[in-house]
This record gives sequence, C-alpha cells and structure tokens, in this order.
Amino acid sequence: MIHDPNRIYVFDTTLRDGEQVPGCQLTTSEKVEIAKELELLGVDVIEAGFPISSPGDFESVVQISKAVNNPIVCALTRANQKDIDAAVQSLQYAKHPRIHTGIGSSDMHIKYKFNSTRQDILQRGVDAVKYAKKYVEDIEFYAEDAGRADNAFLAQMIEAVIAAGATVVNIPDTNGYCLPHQYGAKIKYLMDNVQNIDKAIISVHCHNDLGLATANSLAGIVNGARQVECTINGIGERAGNTSLEEIVMVLKTHQSLGKHTHINTKRFYDLSAKVSSMMHMPVQPNKAIVGKNAFAHSSGIHQDGFLKHRENYEIINPEDIGLDQSEIILTARSGRHALKHHLERLGYLAEKINLDEIYERFLAVADRKKEIKDDDLLLLMGADTKSNYKDGVTIKLLQVMCGDPLIPTSIVKLDMKDGIHEATSSGNGPVDATIKAINKIIEKEVIIKDFHIDAIHGGSDDVSKVNMRIIYNDKNYTGYGFSSDIVQASANAYLDAVNKFI
Ligand code: KIV
Ligand code: ZN
Repeated sequence: MIHDPNRIYVFDTTLRDGEQVPGCQLTTSEKVEIAKELELLGVDVIEAGFPISSPGDFESVVQISKAVNNPIVCALTRANQKDIDAAVQSLQYAKHPRIHTGIGSSDMHIKYKFNSTRQDILQRGVDAVKYAKKYVEDIEFYAEDAGRADNAFLAQMIEAVIAAGATVVNIPDTNGYCLPHQYGAKIKYLMDNVQNIDKAIISVHCHNDLGLATANSLAGIVNGARQVECTINGIGERAGNTSLEEIVMVLKTHQSLGKHTHINTKRFYDLSAKVSSMMHMPVQPNKAIVGKNAFAHSSGIHQDGFLKHRENYEIINPEDIGLDQSEIILTARSGRHALKHHLERLGYLAEKINLDEIYERFLAVADRKKEIKDDDLLLLMGADTKSNYKDGVTIKLLQVMCGDPLIPTSIVKLDMKDGIHEATSSGNGPVDATIKAINKIIEKEVIIKDFHIDAIHGGSDDVSKVNMRIIYNDKNYTGYGFSSDIVQASANAYLDAVNKFI
C-alpha cells in the first residue's frame, strides 16, 4: 500500500468521549445507528466505547463491531489486564480491531492520581501495550494529560511504548490547557526526539476548556500528527472535544496546508442534527459549520454584499456541508436588496413593485417584530394566500382520524384543473398522513426541508401558522398556511408551496 503522508486519519470518539457526558447516553441500537452514519461519513476509526465500564458499553462495542465494515473499531482501556481482556472480547467481531490503552503522563497525574513515580508509570504503559499486542495487532497508546507533561519524559514514554508495539501514539491535551503554539511545539518535540517515531502515527486529542481544541489539533497536524480525535458537534467531557466538522473543514478550506481527509463533508449538517437530537444536546446557533446561524446573514451591509457575490461573506459553500442554501434573515436591519430578494423568491416581479414604498412599510413592521417571515411579507403585499393561486390546487375536503389506539389516517379531496381527486393515507401522525394523501394525488417527488408551526396568540383555541420549505426538482419553494386546525394549516402551507410549481 502506498503511504500518503498528507492524509489525516479521522478518529471519531462521539460514542466514547462524547457519550460519557451526562444526559448524552445512548442505547446500543442508537449507537449502532450513529456508527453506521459515521461509516458513511468516511471516518477512519470509530471509538465505540469503554467495554469494562459497563455491560451496556461492552455490548455496544460488540454490536458496532458487527455493524460496520470499513472503519477500524476501537475500544478504550486503562493500562491493566482486566480492562484489556474485556476490550479484546468485545472486539471479537470487528473486521479491523484496535485497542486504545494508556495511562497518565503528567507529574500531576502521576503523583495525585496514581501516587506513583515516572518510572513505574512508564513501565505500566509498556506492559499494557505488550499485553494487548498479544491479542490485537493495532494498538493505540494514550499518554493522558500529555498537554501538561514534561516533554522529555513524554518522549521517553512514547519511545518505550512504540518499541513495545504501539502503532498509534495519542498525545491528549486532556484538560484543554495548552496554547496552540505550545501544543504544536510538543508534537514537533516528539517528532524530533522520539527515535522510533517513524514506526507509529501521532494522534492529537484535544479538549476545549479554553475554546482552543480545534486550533490545538490544527497546530498538532501542522507539526506532524497524522490522526485527529474528535466528535460530532464537539461534544465531550466538560467543554467538549475537537469538533470533527470544524477540523475537517479547516483542512478542506485551507488547501495550502496540503492535508486532506476522506470525509464526505456533505453529510455534516444532517448528522449533526441527528446526534444533537439523539443525545439531547442542542447545537449553539453560532457554532461554526453546523450552527443554525452559520450560513445566515442578517445585517443589511452583509446581505447586500452576499447577494452581489456569495463569497463576499461566505468562505464555505453551504452545499459542501449538506445545506442547500444560505439564509437571508429579514429584520429591521435588512436593506432593500434583501427585501427584493425575498419578494422575488415569493413570486413578485421586481419591475412590477414599488420597492421604496414597500420598504417603508416593511421597516414599520420590522421595527415591531424580531424577524419578518414569508407570511408577514405576503400580508405586507396585501396578498390573500388563498386567492394567490386561483388556478391552483385547493382542498375540497380534509378528514383525519387519529388518537390512541388508531393509526393516524387522512382522507383528502383536492380540486384540480381536471376535476376532484381523492386519496387516503396513513402516516406517523395526522399531518404526515395528510401530506402523504396529497402526494398520492399530485404524484410529485417533493421533499419537505423546513416545517415551522407557530401559534399566533397561545392557548388551545389559537390559530396556527405554518411555514414550510419544500424541494421539488432541486428548487426551493416556500409555503404558508394558517387555520385554527393545525392539520388544515399544514395542508394549506404544503399546497401553497406546491402551487408554485404545479
Ligand atoms: O482526554 C483524554 O485524555 C482521553 C483519553 C482517555 C484518551 O479521553
Ligand atoms: Zn478525552
């Protein structure tokens, strides 16, 4: 095999370092589901768990080993035989097994965690690697708290574990303490001072206590590390780990670094949302790459510049991370250019409207509301959403059955150009059943991308407003509907969007 020195291996620890965060625990089948997604994403290593820690973790490593084919499946241990035995057993079905064993390397850990000496700790690390090597060829050694370890001792330890058989040496900044130049220098020191470093790959594993995890990982890579340990959305102990999507996009965006991964970045957005919802860990809106606002432009100056040329205000194409478009948010700080953009999107022809006059009215509304949505714009334009599409498809009848123990079912009659059509469908809920029944009639391949329900005042007798964005033939269409019946409001919004292309 030709060895590519510029390939950076991606080691995902969402299911180990990420999953150990309180509230993030997953069932075995959920972990398997995420592991399969990680395989599709193209990660090189999946750290599947810490088998000795619980029967659940053990079982997860077993099931993930069975479920994935391409990535290495890795199990964590401490530097003792009992942990290693459990890891070996849990990895019995892995096509490419790896044991990740290790011990503390900073004087702080040696003294206050192990109450031991440097020499004893080094020997325990070597013994663990030798023991694991009897069962598994691929052994990764972690020198815990390497960020605060003395470089000369760290180099001695790393040289000894490589001689004992370690194939990968992990230099964790366990406490997120290092500054990027310090961490980079540490990796360079090891590259320069560990005699047998060419026999192993250096891995970086950085925590985010000072918000420097991605910067530190990058500094490590620039100085010779060839594996990066990270998690989806940067979840992990305390302030988290290096975020997988950030470090991969840094390398992709800065091609001058000459480093690349085998990650399919187009899967980022959906996988981030999946991990966030399964682990009950919301993604902060301003999170780099996958945050809700990462591709949303809200100030007038930025919106104008963005609309003139996307790259004025975007260094990443949203399609590269799986988002089909950027967002121009209409607020009181938006200018005419952004307003015109949205009106055109809603079907108003620029030459037929008096933009200055509409902009004055827009500002009056925007001053009272945080964000102006499509339905606000339609009202502003004096549109009655129903009469917008006089020739379009309208609902003649909508009847739903739902509630425990019924299977949600919807009967829909649509008034179309060529007469009345009827369909019945079941679904996950009444809205899903209704959309499916409509789809049976219109026979179009439509994907719903966004679906927002708002109550106008609050209260069970309230009017619901539904905003929807759908994709048909690779184009976006938005729809708006309202009704005191939430299913009817959803059907109205769906047809409002559908009528724009049908
Ligand atoms: O942060 C750390 O040091 C770890 C090791 C167990 C690899 O997670
Ligand atoms: Zn860690």
